[in-house]
Amino acid sequence: MKIIAPSILSADGGKLSEEIIAVEKAGADWIHIDVMDGNFVPNITMGPSIIAALRKTTKLLFDVHLMIENPDRYIESFSHAGADIITVHAEATNHLHRTIDLIKSFGQKAGVSLNPATPLVQVEDVIRHIDLLLIMTVNPGFGGQQFIATSLSKIARANKMLEGLPRKPLLEVDGGVTLKNIGDIAQAGADVIVAGAAIFGTEDYKKTISSLKLAAGS
Ligand code: DX5
Ligand code: ZN
Repeated sequence: MKIIAPSILSADGGKLSEEIIAVEKAGADWIHIDVMDGNFVPNITMGPSIIAALRKTTKLLFDVHLMIENPDRYIESFSHAGADIITVHAEATNHLHRTIDLIKSFGQKAGVSLNPATPLVQVEDVIRHIDLLLIMTVNPGFGGQQFIATSLSKIARANKMLEGLPRKPLLEVDGGVTLKNIGDIAQAGADVIVAGAAIFGTEDYKKTISSLKLAAGS
């Protein structure tokens, strides 16, 4: 059973609560929340106060993807805001192991993300400590970009690397997911699949999420 996580980056920003309720009703498993600081990525989105407000709208798991430099400064705030999983970029922190410990110290699940250009070896020595590995399949910053085709082999290699562990972290894929490529992504080993434009760019969320799940083979 694959987990489908709509990214609210592509939702209508003027009615985020309604959008979350709509995708929940339509069968979403998690809510993926993209936090951007205009520094690590060339775009700015939302902070802890918006997340805390959205927390009241649903009990679905909040999968918070931090695309911010020096995430340690804000882990406590995001944790109090209601994030369930906090994912940081390996490229954005000097002491990744410490950052992972910090996330766990607040009782949250810890995820680590890699940009398309960052090799898997970058996380080899921390994968035993994490709950989720997020493979970016576009350069982070915007929704609606095209899936980088070479990412499929990276997903498969990541899956192989995680499979050998006593406690396998979830493998998440984010960026450019469509009805056409979700089958291959699932086949390559993704457990959690994020989709922004592919869901919020359509009219009938229920129909879209059902089709994505079907194409993902779950
Ligand atoms: C990109 C974000 C993604 C984005 C995905 O930086 O991390 O979560 O919302 O959007 P789509 O699915 O439209 O590529
Ligand atoms: Zn994301």
